[in-house]
This record gives sequence, C-alpha cells and structure tokens, in this order.
Amino acid sequence: MKIFHLSIECYPVAKVGGLADVVGALPKYQNQIEDVEASVIMPWYNKPFVHEHEFETVFTGWIHEFDQTLEVNILKEKSKVLGFDLYLVKIPGLLDRDNPYGYWDESQQFLAFQHGVLHWLSQMKIRPDVLHCHDYHTGLVPFMVEHCPEFSFLKGIKTVGTIHNGEYQGHMTWEMAKFFPWFDGTKRGLLDWDGLINPLATMIKCCHAFNAVSVGYLAELYHNFRGLETLVQHEHAKAFGIINGIDTEVWDPQTDAFLDFNYGKQTAAHGKFQNKKALCEEYGLNPDLPLISFIGRFAIEKGADLLPEIVRKSIQETFGAVNIMILGSGDKNIENQLSGLSYHFSNFALELGYKESLSHTIYASSDFLLMPSRVEPCGLNQMYAMRYGTVPIVRYTGGLRDTVEDVSTGGSGLNFTEANANSAVHAIHRALHIFYQRDLMRSLVHSNMSFDFSWEKSAEKYLEMYKI
Ligand code: ADP
Ligand code: GLC
Repeated sequence: MKIFHLSIECYPVAKVGGLADVVGALPKYQNQIEDVEASVIMPWYNKPFVHEHEFETVFTGWIHEFDQTLEVNILKEKSKVLGFDLYLVKIPGLLDRDNPYGYWDESQQFLAFQHGVLHWLSQMKIRPDVLHCHDYHTGLVPFMVEHCPEFSFLKGIKTVGTIHNGEYQGHMTWEMAKFFPWFDGTKRGLLDWDGLINPLATMIKCCHAFNAVSVGYLAELYHNFRGLETLVQHEHAKAFGIINGIDTEVWDPQTDAFLDFNYGKQTAAHGKFQNKKALCEEYGLNPDLPLISFIGRFAIEKGADLLPEIVRKSIQETFGAVNIMILGSGDKNIENQLSGLSYHFSNFALELGYKESLSHTIYASSDFLLMPSRVEPCGLNQMYAMRYGTVPIVRYTGGLRDTVEDVSTGGSGLNFTEANANSAVHAIHRALHIFYQRDLMRSLVHSNMSFDFSWEKSAEKYLEMYKI
C-alpha cells in the first residue's frame, strides 16, 4: 500500500508544533509494517528546522495560479535517514518562505501547495493508494481529486483526513474562488459551509474517512466544533478517533543528544536531578525546590492567558517554595505580562522563542509539566514529559483526558477540570504535596517512564481507517 501524507509541517525539517512531530513519525512507523510504503509531501522552506538535508529535483512543471504561470519543483530528500521518503514542493516566490505560517497570502500558499502536489502526481502518472491530508491546509485535496477535470487521472484514489486542530478551518470568502483554476463551478456545495469556503468542512465532506487525534477529542467535536458540529454528526460513519503516539527514538532520555545527562528508569532520580541542577544554575533557580514547567504556544486554546496569574499565585501562596519555568512564544500581551513577572519573581524563569534543544532539557529536568489547555486535541507534551519521568498536571480535556489519569484513581498525573487559574493552582498545591512524599514521587516517575506511548498501535489503526 502506497501512502502519501500531505502536510505543511514535518519534523525534523519544518516544525511549529505537534503536527510536525506526528507527520515526522507516523510514516516511519507505517513503513515498519509489511507492504506499506509511506512518504511525506511538504512545502519547501528556506530554513531547515533541526537538521540540514540534501535534496535532488525530481520534477519541474508549471501551474497557472493567481493570474500567473508559476514554476513547480519537486525535490526529494537524498539521505534516506528519516525512515520515509520526503518530497518538497518548491514554488519560487510562494513556497520558498522561512516559516510555514504568518504571511498575508498564507491561504494562497496552501492553495498553491495543494495544486502543485496534484499537478505533479497527475503529470508523472503517480497513483498512490491513499492521499492522507493533515489539517485544513490540505483539506481541499479530497475535492480536487474527485471533482476537478484537471486531476482526472487521480480520480478514485482514497483520500483521508486527520483533524489535528479543529479550531483552525481556513475559511475564505467566495471571492477567493477566482484563485481556483482547477474549479469549474460545479459542486459548489462541497466547498461551502455557511456561505464561506471552508477547507476543513470540505475535507470532512469529500474524504473517504477522517479522524481526530484522540477518541476524547472526537467526542467533543460532535458538540463543540466551531460551527461544524452538525457536519461531523452527519458524517459520523466515517469518523475515527486515533490517539497520537510519540517517536520513541527521538524522545528517549537514555540517548537524547540534547541532554547533558542521559538517564533510564533505574537512574532517573540521579539523572533528572543532574539535568535540573544545570538548568536551575543557568536560570538562577534553586534546584532543591520543585520545578514546574510549561512549554508551548502562547494561545488561548493552550490556556496560556492563565499563566501570568498561575505564576503569581503559585509563588505567592507557597511563599516562594516552588520554581516555575516557561518556554514559549505567541500572544504579545501574554509575553509582556510574563516578562514583567520574570523580573519580579526570582523563582520564575522565562525563555521566549522556539528552542527545540531547551525543550528536551526542560522535559528532563522538571518535576511537573503544566498544561492548562482549554482545547487539546491530543497533546504530545504530556507524553514527552511522562517518558522523561516528569509528572503531568493537565486540564481534563480532549487527548489529555485520554492520556493522563489522576493519582487519586491510580494514575500517575494530576487532573483539574476548570479552565481557570484557581483550578490550576489548586492542582499545583496537590503536586507540591506529592513532591515531598519521596516514595510516592519516585514511583510516579517510574510508572510514567514505563508507559507505552509508541506509535505501533496507532499506525495499525490508521491502516484500518484506510480500508473503509
Ligand atoms: P501543539 O501542536 O498544539 O502546539 P502539541 O502538544 O501537539 O501542541 O505539540 C507541541 C510540540 O511543540 C511539542 O513537540 C513541544 O515540545 C513543541 N514546542 C512547543 N513550543 C515550543 C517551544 N517554544 N520551543 C520548543 N519546542 C516547543
Ligand atoms: C495540534 C493539536 C495538538 C496535537 C497536535 C498533533 O497542534 O493542538 O493537541 O497534539 O496537533 O496532532
């Protein structure tokens, strides 16, 4: 079975968040299954994310988009070290940017990407068995394959979609349809949702099957999906919930090259403390106090707006008996508030920006990892934390609910239900209480490190989904 994943992020070449981690791992694990050949197709970016890779051009063609003729180059990664073939779509002037997101013509980038991929496959007469689309950026593909004469060679190919985050749907006004050279005006209803072109809705309507990245999140989408609730209810027969795994080769405290001190289950107490000590020294924190961290995008869905109050209350209410470290960036107002607090409280360390290496060090060094998410389709941070022997403190929602059970019911994390600072701080007080029960803490570290979050099971579930 030949599978092409279409995504605008893929670790280790381009990463903004969990989408990259999933697309950089799932195909690798799929390729370990007999008769499966999974590849990834992604836009070209100027700046490599973690590693430099070499590419060779395997196709050059032209598409007509945005009243221009654009050159499309397909480049293939040469080293084959990723565990899957990686193809990049380079369209000079459009798909040759520094980052995946944040440009004024973002929707045109995504349109050109989808067009470029299908143009290449049609021209080269490449017919995979499955086109696997990730998030709304590639959501028009199931429509284009099935209903556009330009791609008639691809008609009938199975298309599936994964919803990593239903908060973002890629709405466009119908004005944008003038930028759809492949659209002949028929089947407009498949592109439309509530008077707008909605690529995520189109994906759900036109694909053979789709999934959310956890069972819990799928259940939430039926009632809370930014206007698409009735659509997902109507299409329930082709809906799946499949939890993400983690790449246990990349995320392994025994071999992680980003760590100063590697450790395994037996050496966790010492190894974690060595990492913590070094990190605390660097950021002026006291390594004997419990360290609670947050890593992520400063967005409302992550509950990042609650962080300033959580930091202030936790430190004040414990009279400074806790360290807090935050790594992230995003909303400028949140960044400014946190910067202010970092000058005020010596127990609080803040690092603004995206820092892959530091994130690994923080997972390894922390005692607890906080995730006060309002919406969390799956969440990978809690799984990375657990693999590194760090106890997650999570809001009880979506994928967090599916992966972190509270200590009070035999689990090895802490849950809280309300998306507010008081509820999170209450959980932090519980965590601090646990921190000083050394035996309990040691057994939580040990049981968290023993969890199996590997991709094998979920990779099989995707194959089941492709069979629909
Ligand atoms: P999301 O994709 O919604 O941001 P996930 O939990 O699925 O959330 O994945 C987030 C990924 O991005 C993890 O690999 C996490 O370690 C990483 N990450 C987030 N913010 C940063 C940052 N500022 N620096 C380094 N890594 C980060
Ligand atoms: C999205 C979600 C996150 C999920 C990730 C990978 O970014 O917000 O919860 O883990 O995709 O599926």
